[in-house]
Amino acid sequence: MASSSLQYFIFSTLLLIFFISPITTFAQQSFRPKALVLPVSKDSSTLQYLTTINQRTPLVPVSLVVDLGGQFLWADCQQNYVSSTYRPARCNSAVCSLSRANGCGDCFSSPRPGCNNNTCGVLPDNTVTRTATSGEVAQDIVSVQSTNGFNPGRNVTVSNLIFSCAPTSLLEGLAGGVKGMAGLGRTRIAFPSQFASTFSFSRKFAICLASSSTSRGVIFFGDSPYMFLPGIDVSESLSFTPLLINPVSTASAFNQGEPSAEYFIGVKSIKVGEQVVPLNTTLLSIDSQSGIGGTKISTVNPYTVLEDSIFKAVTEAFTNESATRNITRVTGVAPFDVCFSSANILSTRLGPSVPTIHLVMQNGNNVEWSIFGSNSMVAVSNEVWCVGFVNGGSNPRTSIVIGGHQLENLLLQFDLATSRLGFTSTLSGRRTTCANFNFTSTP
Ligand SMILES: *[C@@H]1O[C@H](CO)[C@@H](O)[C@H](O)[C@H]1NC(C)=O
Ligand SMILES: *[C@@H]1O[C@H](CO)[C@@H](O)[C@H](O)[C@H]1NC(C)=O
Ligand SMILES: *[C@@H]1O[C@H](CO)[C@@H](O)[C@H](O)[C@H]1NC(C)=O
Ligand SMILES: *[C@@H]1O[C@H](CO)[C@@H](O)[C@H](O)[C@H]1NC(C)=O
Ligand SMILES: *[C@@H]1O[C@H](CO)[C@@H](O)[C@H](O)[C@H]1NC(C)=O
Ligand SMILES: *[C@@H]1O[C@H](CO)[C@@H](O)[C@H](O)[C@H]1NC(C)=O
Repeated sequence: MASSSLQYFIFSTLLLIFFISPITTFAQQSFRPKALVLPVSKDSSTLQYLTTINQRTPLVPVSLVVDLGGQFLWADCQQNYVSSTYRPARCNSAVCSLSRANGCGDCFSSPRPGCNNNTCGVLPDNTVTRTATSGEVAQDIVSVQSTNGFNPGRNVTVSNLIFSCAPTSLLEGLAGGVKGMAGLGRTRIAFPSQFASTFSFSRKFAICLASSSTSRGVIFFGDSPYMFLPGIDVSESLSFTPLLINPVSTASAFNQGEPSAEYFIGVKSIKVGEQVVPLNTTLLSIDSQSGIGGTKISTVNPYTVLEDSIFKAVTEAFTNESATRNITRVTGVAPFDVCFSSANILSTRLGPSVPTIHLVMQNGNNVEWSIFGSNSMVAVSNEVWCVGFVNGGSNPRTSIVIGGHQLENLLLQFDLATSRLGFTSTLSGRRTTCANFNFTSTP
């Protein structure tokens, strides 16, 4: 008894040292990256944003759906997970508590990745289909490219990246070839925090999604510069607004008592052109008891989703303002309700020339997120442009979900230490795009 508890003490102490000390967790001790970079592409059939990491021993590329508000990395361990460095997290270990894992589980089958005795579990969720299961917490090697902000540099290794295993069935609804989801949310074990603590860089990351499925956008972990051809440091064009914490989990019904891992911002009002749209402002704030309301940013929703009354008010103001420019409304094309004839819509550098929608932020000084035609409109044919917003019905959990189309070709920087979002306007205004990161490696 005494010896087994001593062993346990030594084991958990070792784990603790192993995790806390950044020096032991990356292989090339001589090289400390200032930032990391991942490519992101858009799957044309599902409109999901995908990235690839190298994981396991031997390293294999693992394709993942990018989930901005996701709690952690989860991957299918049931099929084709082969790795000599896979380590399940033992019950009551430091890794379990960092993962906020509950309980202690056994698996009544032959041991394999995802099925081991005396391990702790979490609830990986597929946020596209809104399904969750339980999954073993584990660690394995991950290799990612470092960057100086201009180009990718040498690959660096995180030898014990914490993630969750999931059954193959959780992949349902995700793009072909995908093996899991890369959570970038506000938890201790999501990519941003694990990379930052492993390499001792700041707890910041930035995403820049390309607008076409034939080009690549980029995710940076760590601080700027964020350079795009022809030599533009996009971090110089950031406006800032606080990131808000929703005290109630939005992940799944099971995570009661945990704050949400998702990124919320304070939208105070919405303008179309110069007109303030009349809205029920109660919907714009997060209810502290229920977590209902407010505005979040999501990469798993392809288009912005607005609560019914907000949707109607914004699209009515948009339609009226368009009418003054002789832009005429035509029948909606699913999933969009509000569409226009392209006849009187001119093209500009900022996309089709339509009224600009401004999200006015709660911090004063006229901080506004301006949505120009390139981000508000979707061409459904040569003749028809639709407002790329969808109606979320009358009782959604979150009133405004800013989705993928509205995030394309702008850079968003999430600073977890200061709880602040930096956002640019469309990069077309700076004569570059998210597809302009130079992916040619410089070793
Ligand atoms: C877990 O322990 C039980 C009981 O000792 C055993 O039957 C089972 O095979 C073990 N499972 C694994 C995955 O090791
Ligand atoms: C580094 O990672 C990239 C991206 O995953 C990969 O294409 C490349 O082969 C790796 N380079 C080395 C030297 O392992
Ligand atoms: C505003 O929205 C809140 C929350 O849904 C609702 O309780 C309230 O009745 C609404 N107010 C008006 C004037 O519609
Ligand atoms: C839009 O135009 C209609 C018809 O002219 C008018 O009744 C309505 O008040 C206008 N709405 C807004 C938000 O301007
Ligand atoms: C709209 O169309 C009318 C009638 O064709 C024309 O008189 C007016 O100048 C047009 N307005 C704009 C803003 O193009
Ligand atoms: C991209 O970076 C590589 C390596 O630094 C450089 O040789 C190349 O000229 C760059 N591409 C462009 C288009 O500037």
